[in-house]
Amino acid sequence: MENKIYTNHLVLRDLSIKDNHDWLEMFSSEKVAMFLEKIDDIEKINRIIEKKINRYKENSGGSFSILEKTNDKVIGNIEIKVISPLLAELSYVINDKYWNKGYCTEACKAIIDYAFKEWNLSKIVADCRENNTASAHILVDKLLFTQLSPTIHNGIKFLNFELNRKI
Ligand SMILES: CC(C)(COP(=O)(O)OP(=O)(O)OC[C@H]1O[C@@H](n2cnc3c(N)ncnc32)[C@H](O)[C@@H]1OP(=O)(O)O)[C@@H](O)C(=O)NCCC(=O)NCCS
Repeated sequence: MENKIYTNHLVLRDLSIKDNHDWLEMFSSEKVAMFLEKIDDIEKINRIIEKKINRYKENSGGSFSILEKTNDKVIGNIEIKVISPLLAELSYVINDKYWNKGYCTEACKAIIDYAFKEWNLSKIVADCRENNTASAHILVDKLLFTQLSPTIHNGIKFLNFELNRKI
């Protein structure tokens, strides 16, 4: 069954390999590459999308393409990866041409709500690089995650966050 989540301005739907050119535009951006690995190879994009589609056929959690309701262009990706029965990790990216319109916050609120209900999670965690002040602001101030101790992976400092389901 196809998953679709509607918000005020957005549709979150299952990934399709046809999203690849919009993903290439998003992940090859220098602005996005300040916070995530830059990907400017369509074959690599195809492999990543295929892997995600296959992973979420079998496991709970999901990776969703984000579209404006008025448009067919994929402008973001949001993912909830279940890592143990009650725990999942949230991650997201928005095409930089669409930043600061409230879209990440809107998509996160919808997917968090969906994930706590549909997958019976009790905790969602997220992380971002230390320089990612917009992401930290969204997680703490807008989504009410709690900030935890930072960690270092491959020499890069990451800020860590968690959100517990309200009882
Ligand atoms: C993080 C990201 C998804 C945010 O997307 P977005 O759709 O622009 O987010 P929103 O519009 O919902 O919110 C952005 C908020 O950050 C604020 N902001 C923007 N730039 C900022 C900065 N440099 N420092 C602090 N806050 C900043 C905005 O003012 C806004 O807050 P406000 O509504 O209180 O004014 C986007 O910047 C992105 O794709 N970054 C690259 C990928 C990434 O960092 N992913 C997170 C790691 S998993």
